[in-house]
Amino acid sequence: MDFPFQIRSYEAYEVAYKKSVAEPEQFWNDIAEQFLWRKKWDKVLEWNFKQPDIKWFLNGKLNITENCLDRHLAALSDQPAIMWEPNGITEANRVITYGELHSKVRQFAHVLRNNGVKKGDRICIYMGMIPELTIAMLACARVGAIHSVIFGGFSAQSISDRLQDANAEFIITCDGAYRGAKDIPLKDTIDDALVNCPFVKCVIVYQRTNTPVSMIKGRDVWWSDEVAKVAAQDDPEFIAEEMDSEDPLFILYTSGSTGKPKGVVHTTGGYMVYTTYSFVNVFQYKPGDIHFCTADIGWITGHTYILYAVLCSGGTSLMYEGLPTWPDAGRLWDIVDKYKANILYTAPTAIRSLMAYGTAPFEGKSLDSLKVIGTVGEPINEEAWHWYDEHVGKKRCPIVDTWFQTETAGILLSNLGGVTPSKPGYATLPLPGIQPVLVDEQGKEITGNDVSGNLCIRFPWPSILRTTYGDHERCRLNYFSSYDDMYFTGDGCYRDEHGFYRITGRVDDVLNVSGHRIGTAEVENAINMHTGVLESAVVGYPHDVKGLGIYAYVIMEKMPEDEAITRADIIQTVTRIIGPIARPDKIQFVKGLPKTRSGKIMRRILRKIAEGETGNVGDTSTLLDPAVVEDIKGGKL
Ligand code: WT7
Repeated sequence: MDFPFQIRSYEAYEVAYKKSVAEPEQFWNDIAEQFLWRKKWDKVLEWNFKQPDIKWFLNGKLNITENCLDRHLAALSDQPAIMWEPNGITEANRVITYGELHSKVRQFAHVLRNNGVKKGDRICIYMGMIPELTIAMLACARVGAIHSVIFGGFSAQSISDRLQDANAEFIITCDGAYRGAKDIPLKDTIDDALVNCPFVKCVIVYQRTNTPVSMIKGRDVWWSDEVAKVAAQDDPEFIAEEMDSEDPLFILYTSGSTGKPKGVVHTTGGYMVYTTYSFVNVFQYKPGDIHFCTADIGWITGHTYILYAVLCSGGTSLMYEGLPTWPDAGRLWDIVDKYKANILYTAPTAIRSLMAYGTAPFEGKSLDSLKVIGTVGEPINEEAWHWYDEHVGKKRCPIVDTWFQTETAGILLSNLGGVTPSKPGYATLPLPGIQPVLVDEQGKEITGNDVSGNLCIRFPWPSILRTTYGDHERCRLNYFSSYDDMYFTGDGCYRDEHGFYRITGRVDDVLNVSGHRIGTAEVENAINMHTGVLESAVVGYPHDVKGLGIYAYVIMEKMPEDEAITRADIIQTVTRIIGPIARPDKIQFVKGLPKTRSGKIMRRILRKIAEGETGNVGDTSTLLDPAVVEDIKGGKL
């Protein structure tokens, strides 16, 4: 695949950026023409941010998997599409060429159809990081079903909430997943989730760990049996479903300020065009490059930068099943060397956890193959940035600090590796097509440089979310109602004297813990379900590795006799209700919470105390009972 839209100099970036603002439709039209469409669009864009109603490449017809697979067959059939490194170091790795992946996706698409899946059906995928996960996703896209991948760290309750919200009748899962020393029983968790979901018709189970699993007659089938049936029929070529540009491709749930996660909906054409554009430009991908993204596919980073954008570019995606520190802290460097990875894309939290092991894990590792290294998910502190630069990039690889969100699907703010300048801690500049705006609390635009405000985007880009599943009003309220005619990101942001952007963190009640988004209200709801809990308030506090840790203030009916036991019990409840990713790091039992006369919890005060402030926590004059503040400070952990 050629990339006539690849930007190779700072001047070219400026030209592209200017054009994208002056003539956005022409700009995206030219880029979209580089893809494979069954039928060209009639119109590039229709939009308003009021409702919102956003459509890109109207009436264009395509199947994204033909862009991921079919179009590469002539030239790249024998090139690896996916290279897979298993969790265990003694297990054989797997290399799946474009030709092989195409045929596996075709087979599994038949399996889905044989089991009754139709265009528009929602399919929940709950699997570990194995190649079959990518096969499952692509097969869904091939038949026009909407996948909803759920990260393995979510509990049965969370899965069941998501299944109900999406009314998903099909599930693809594994018996278990390997992660480090653990064997995680995925099918067991699915079985628990399904107690509340009688509408689920079919569960397809891939055997990865050979853990014993219950298989319910008439509902549960083995992946291998189903594929064998298809192979025996020797089915002809599977004709991919023709999708409209605006047909949904997937739903991905994410936390917001309310207690209930929302299903962010992305559609087909715009997602493909923007994410591929961002991949080729940010990472300066060159044909033949091996791209190693350490994210889990259960998050947007994995959807886009392990799977869709990489395959649409004809790239080789290196996928790793396990943990960066398993069996030792040199594992990522071993993997980079073993596969000669050219791009490494990881999260600040992973970098910080590896920093703690010092430089010994680098001994005997070369890392010479690396050309561009990236980070995503949370602000990167300067210390971690320099460590990454020195020990991983060896000061010869540009670091791309890429800012985006589940809702944006692709990177919106980032330097372009080696092409535009980097600055530690800064996502730097918008990609062409992206028009960032800083606004104050009143919604007034803050112009000029060396200013801070809330980050909004003024104009749609092709991969902006279209709705939140089943509840369009929620989408409007969440993203498009705070400021007129702007998409509100929920992030605070600083623009420096050169116009470079630095994300300062969420300004809503969402915590970014190890690069995962967790709503404080969700954690509070879970804690409040614990017996004896009257009320709770959750805030973030600075954490050396996780970025933010979860600090919970909890009021019990009566103070616990053994605090340690009650703490452990509450953590268990949160793990059951949401999943291990939402476990509070600290729980402080308090007698009261700082509330205003209207009953609103003043989190600013709780944050200060959680951060370790023992003195002045700011103005407490509007509090109903200022004495609770001293009380909480006195009991601080
Ligand atoms: C939130 C989105 C983007 C994929 C992973 C997380 C934070 C993301 C950066 C960055 C500072 C960042 C923001 C954003 N964030 N990238 N480079 N620098 N903060 O996706 O779960 O949708 O979370 O992650 O706060 O709003 P997500």
